[in-house]
Amino acid sequence: MSNAKLLPGTPVAEKIFADVTARAAALRARGIAPSLATILVGDDDASAGYIRIKQKQATELGFDSPHTHLPASATQSDLEAVVTGYNADPGVHGMLVQYPVPKHLDYDAALLAIDPAKDVDGMHPLNLGKLAAGVPGPLPCTPAGIEELLAFHEIPVSGREVVILGRGATLGRPLAMLLAQKRPTANAAVTVVHTGVPDWDRYTRRADILVAAAGVPGIIQPEHVRPGSVVVGGGVRYSGRKLLPDVDERCEEVAGAITPRVGGVGPTTVAVLFRNAVAAAEAANPA
Ligand SMILES: NC(=O)c1ccc[n+]([C@@H]2O[C@H](COP(=O)([O-])OP(=O)(O)OC[C@H]3O[C@@H](n4cnc5c(N)ncnc54)[C@H](OP(=O)(O)O)[C@@H]3O)[C@@H](O)[C@H]2O)c1
Repeated sequence: MSNAKLLPGTPVAEKIFADVTARAAALRARGIAPSLATILVGDDDASAGYIRIKQKQATELGFDSPHTHLPASATQSDLEAVVTGYNADPGVHGMLVQYPVPKHLDYDAALLAIDPAKDVDGMHPLNLGKLAAGVPGPLPCTPAGIEELLAFHEIPVSGREVVILGRGATLGRPLAMLLAQKRPTANAAVTVVHTGVPDWDRYTRRADILVAAAGVPGIIQPEHVRPGSVVVGGGVRYSGRKLLPDVDERCEEVAGAITPRVGGVGPTTVAVLFRNAVAAAEAANPA
């Protein structure tokens, strides 16, 4: 039986989208069409699905969404030529290369080719450097979405211990930097555990807030969770179209509050992406 309070991401995303919609409309009123370009390489179904979701969202929010679909046989220079084309286009304010790219391509090199001012994923090394330095810049979407989610649901973070399972570049590592910053919605004692810490459950079992960021289905079991604590499920893996979360569903019986298996961290990630995009459009067109 689940006693845990659910922490859905959808109302958090709706709140962010309301702000983005107003800012996009204000740009349009000045004759500027905010624009988020997407680049997809190959024919992966899940990736094509993510792009469709982002394009639909773009239309609803009042964004243009130019798209380039390269074949799976595209070369690195084909990919980087599209990136540099969007870099040079003043009508494009943000862009993203959908991850993953086919194995013969270098995603990190493509990321480096993106103009950091148009990096709406917040994953360009310059923007990750700004995060590390505590300087304003586009924040990585999933970590920033998790901070928003906790704040929206009034989960106290300041002064509490957050334990993150996973130190990946997209989630665990930037989230640790973000939640350790001196800010009322952060300000946490952050511990990061990974495969180098075989007894990682020693840390997760004392966490006030546990964030799963491993991408290993079911790795977080009820015995890894401190009773009454907050559990955030960030890591997921796909088996075809089926979503396999890191957090086993029985953790709901132990946690005090927990993100739902569907509609948790995902919607907040997309919302922060568009918040970064509207901010990029504003920065390129100062009033
Ligand atoms: N919900 C969303 O919107 C959203 C968005 C972005 C990403 N994600 C998900 O977030 C997850 C993390 O992404 P990422 O790119 O940051 O991850 P990543 O680079 O794949 O890193 C995974 C991390 O988990 C650790 N790990 C894996 N297996 C482990 C085990 N058995 N015991 C302990 N630690 C283990 C790894 O440790 P080592 O470093 O020691 O190898 C690594 O630090 C993925 O599942 C991704 O799909 C979700």
